[in-house]
Amino acid sequence: MLDKLKNLKIEVLAAIETASEAEKLREIEIAFLGRKGRLTEILRGLKDLPAEEKGKVGKLSNEIKTEIEIKIAAKFAEFETAKFDQLAETEWIDPTQPGEEAQRGTLHPLTQFIREAEKVFTGMGFTIASGPQIEDDFHNFTALNIPADHPARDSQDTLFIEGSENFMRTQTSSVQIRWMEKNKPPFRIIAPGRVFRKDDFDAGHSPMFHHLEGLVVDREISLANMKAVMEEAVRQLINPDAKFRWRTSYFPFVEPGLEVDMSCTVCGGSGCSVCKQTGWVEVVGCGLVHPKVLENVGVDSTKWSGFAFGFGWDRLVMMKHSINDIRLLFENDLRFLRQF
Ligand code: DAH
Repeated sequence: MLDKLKNLKIEVLAAIETASEAEKLREIEIAFLGRKGRLTEILRGLKDLPAEEKGKVGKLSNEIKTEIEIKIAAKFAEFETAKFDQLAETEWIDPTQPGEEAQRGTLHPLTQFIREAEKVFTGMGFTIASGPQIEDDFHNFTALNIPADHPARDSQDTLFIEGSENFMRTQTSSVQIRWMEKNKPPFRIIAPGRVFRKDDFDAGHSPMFHHLEGLVVDREISLANMKAVMEEAVRQLINPDAKFRWRTSYFPFVEPGLEVDMSCTVCGGSGCSVCKQTGWVEVVGCGLVHPKVLENVGVDSTKWSGFAFGFGWDRLVMMKHSINDIRLLFENDLRFLRQF
């Protein structure tokens, strides 16, 4: 029995030595040490041996078992090292090389702009207000001193909703009314939002665009207050050196009404499709709130006065970044958006 064991040991060690890969080694391990392995069988048969043999055979078997286990483990480790050496040869990487930069998204230029605008205006004591994009006649027109037969309605080609009296709001001025219905003066609000008109797409127009509305109602508000607030805001938001042209204009909900043009940053004032070859782009309508508008929402116009403005938010962004086509703002072409 002892000889048999010694021969077994020689056989296993030789087999381990010549095993060419991990899989072969695993087979050897199973053949000798597995549940039905040859050494396992011997160990299992120990109990049937005569007492004087049992001790010696048991001791030697255990010694051999330990030795085989150590050899097999060492050989596995050898294979493992070889595997990594091989990988290091064929699949090495150079950790000092710069990595590939992960692509990060950015906020849309319109969003970036309005966040800045909200900061600038809240810094001047304004509150941010909003209203529904689907409006009714009272809030979008009548309360703003635009009665049913008023020609000003023509300039705001309304997009109606089939089967409804309501429609897509044509101006964020409706938010002025909604705010004044619920809040007592004094107050200062801005209301950025989408507006809709039956316009065709071209470089300067889109049927959906954005306004940045503002309304201040307080005691003894003057045009000088309005000019100061608006110029300060635009100076901070677009360009401290921006050039402006103030013109009288007409909006039914303000008196007097004004429009402000900014010198076109796309062409530098020499004329292009954005400024319709004039060198100037109209960026805002504004004025002192018409007393009728205040009265329509129950504000005493003998005690309170105010100013209002409605910036073309898209146009401001176009002027800020010299963007020559409003459609770029809505097409979501990544080649465009990645520049911001
Ligand atoms: N709502 C006007 C428009 O759609 C813009 C505007 C003009 C808003 C004068 C105002 C304002 O608040 O006072 O063209």
